[in-house]
Amino acid sequence: MLQNTKVVVTRQLIDEAQRLLDANTDLEIVQWKSEKPCDRSWLLSNAKGATGLLVMLNDKIDEELLDTAGPQLKAIASFSVGTDHVDRDALKKRNIRLGYTPTALTDAVADLTVMLILMAQRRAGESMGKVIKGEWPQMPWHPLLMTGPQIRGATVGFLGFGRISQASLQRLLPFGIKRVIYLTSQPGQPVKEDHFGLIKDGAIPIEPAKSWEQLAGESDVVVIGCSLTPSTKHLVNTDFFAKMKKLAVIVNIARGPVIDTNALVDALQNEKIFGAGLDVIENEPNIQADHPILKQPRCVLVPHIGSANIETRAQMAEESVENLLAGLKGEAMVNEVEL
Ligand code: DGY
Repeated sequence: MLQNTKVVVTRQLIDEAQRLLDANTDLEIVQWKSEKPCDRSWLLSNAKGATGLLVMLNDKIDEELLDTAGPQLKAIASFSVGTDHVDRDALKKRNIRLGYTPTALTDAVADLTVMLILMAQRRAGESMGKVIKGEWPQMPWHPLLMTGPQIRGATVGFLGFGRISQASLQRLLPFGIKRVIYLTSQPGQPVKEDHFGLIKDGAIPIEPAKSWEQLAGESDVVVIGCSLTPSTKHLVNTDFFAKMKKLAVIVNIARGPVIDTNALVDALQNEKIFGAGLDVIENEPNIQADHPILKQPRCVLVPHIGSANIETRAQMAEESVENLLAGLKGEAMVNEVEL
């Protein structure tokens, strides 16, 4: 059925997923056999004649690639929840289906969200840095050493209140947070999906914010969990930081460009906010050791590891293969983006 069907896969896959793909012996599989990102030139030259593509979040899927691939291209499976690397309009125009992996990584990213909140509040990066540099002997225990705000009693503001934000909230409830406000593309409107029944439960107030100003001004913890779109790019900027509380922390587990990095550096340097926990940052991974964000002791930055637990990555790989195969066969994908 899939005879003479060419697919291009832009990474070596984890064992089970690779086996699932290789089992389709009638497919012509062209694969970038490395863990490093695939060269754009390799992708462009190999995409020609492909019916399906399995891609990562750092492979740009744009008009140039789609034109090069040709009109037979039917399906793209992205190994990610975020799809800002894909020109959705270009896919829609060509009737190309897009699969993604939103459910597989919810728990992993929510776990990391909690980790980053606590690290930012409790100055974990700064504290470890001092120990590693051998500075502990110069800072013996005293009552105010490395103190930061507590999570109990916090108002948590979510920019974007989808599945990952709600799973993060589920984990935060046992810490005794007091209240949640959230902002979506429809400010003031209740969120459409109550994924884990938390709103219905009513354990704490969970309310839509009327504006970003309200969210910035009332939150002790701001979590960025929204997609990157033209309207969320630099949503968190100098004005946003100016409204935030001095003891508040901000956490970004979504996409780097939602925060204006220069504004964040300024906010940290001038103590407009208490701290930051970042899984993502503008222009990643090209962050050199002299980047000003790395000079901010109250900023914890990890290299986009939100979904990086072994089980999650294996599941994402399998779902990506399943989405690709379903797309080729015209069947239902595990998760498909509505274009
Ligand atoms: C994704 O899949 O889009 C996430 O950023 C991974 O952490």
